[in-house]
Amino acid sequence: MKTVTQTLNVALGERSYPIHIGTDVLSRPELVLPFLAQKRVVVVTNTTVAPLYLDEFRSGLEKCGIETLPVVLPDGEQYKTWETLNLIFDALLAARCERNTTLIALGGGVIGDMGGFAAACYQRGMPFIQVPTTLLSQVDSSVGGKTAINHPMGKNMVGAFYQPRLVLADLSTLDTLPDRELKAGLAEVIKYGLIRDPDFFVWLEANLEKLLVRDKSALAYAVHRSCANKAEVVAADERESGERALLNLGHTFGHAIETGLGYGEWLHGEAVAAGTLIAAELSCRLGWIDADSVARIEKIFVRSGLPVKAPDLGAARYLELMSHDKKVQDGKLRLVLLREIGKAVVSDAATTAQMVDAIEARCT
Ligand code: NAD
Ligand code: GLY
Repeated sequence: MKTVTQTLNVALGERSYPIHIGTDVLSRPELVLPFLAQKRVVVVTNTTVAPLYLDEFRSGLEKCGIETLPVVLPDGEQYKTWETLNLIFDALLAARCERNTTLIALGGGVIGDMGGFAAACYQRGMPFIQVPTTLLSQVDSSVGGKTAINHPMGKNMVGAFYQPRLVLADLSTLDTLPDRELKAGLAEVIKYGLIRDPDFFVWLEANLEKLLVRDKSALAYAVHRSCANKAEVVAADERESGERALLNLGHTFGHAIETGLGYGEWLHGEAVAAGTLIAAELSCRLGWIDADSVARIEKIFVRSGLPVKAPDLGAARYLELMSHDKKVQDGKLRLVLLREIGKAVVSDAATTAQMVDAIEARCT
């Protein structure tokens, strides 16, 4: 099914950019051409996405006289590293790419985060375009300019804020996404309902099955509404000095799960789901939300096929991993917690003992 292309704007002054969401945007070079400073682009992708979408994406541009240089990386969160980043720099240098050559990331959040970081660094910054092909990257990681690689001691620890000039989210690419990845993306969709959009949460409760069977109009609505929420937050707080931190609901615990288990063992969205339940449990223990709200949150994640129990790394290991969180301020951990469904806050109210209790209550 085709959907009408919808366009949103991320309002960041002279660095503002459009997000186009539709079912054929991958093969519409006219959407890309106005953003190119040169008749040459580098397309960074991976071994899974390249056979599916690289030719389709390249051929449109090539027909318009744009030379496209593909850089195909190994696939997986475990490759979001310095070594892989260097493969991008090697390719850029070997091809004598210039400061005005545009780097286009075609793939999920791993490719988007690494491609964006490479673009931020190469010759101190080259133009960058995001073409996200997973639900998670279409609703979250391609928008807002956070780019990074992982460090063995912490997730996304080395990176830069670097905004794309354009985001093209083609919903038809979601047809080939494995079920497990689609479900992982739902964790970040549900996040927007929980932190700031209670009506969207109600819509998700009513329409979850449509998303699970990949109904295009439901997906178009969910991607658009998620991006609208994200664009508003990013426009208000690009560098995360305040409200943007709310987008990290469940992530402090989730990143601990990903790092603690080894990158790639649990998907990012799965770790966020289990982490969100720990955050909800803690919010309940602080008397901020009631047990019925926790049950309601648990239910939507269970219906999404996402984990609601975290792996038992031991509370002490969780706390150690969480001490590297980017929200730590003056040595004190701050967490995103819920005041109600649809209202999150950043808080240092929880004691270590309360955190331990919540973690232990929500581990398998
Ligand atoms: P991913 O990039 O690993 O993609 C998931 C899997 O799907 C991969 O195997 C990929 O090759 C494959 N794939 C991609 N598109 C496909 C398609 N259309 N059909 C079939 N297979 C396809 O994972 P993700 O969930 O997209 O992103 C997770 C990453 O995003 C994490 O590293 C996380 O830290 C990061 N992230 C960043 C931000 C941000 O603001 N920058 C926000 C959220 C998450
Ligand atoms: N995904 C969290 C953020 O973009 O801030």
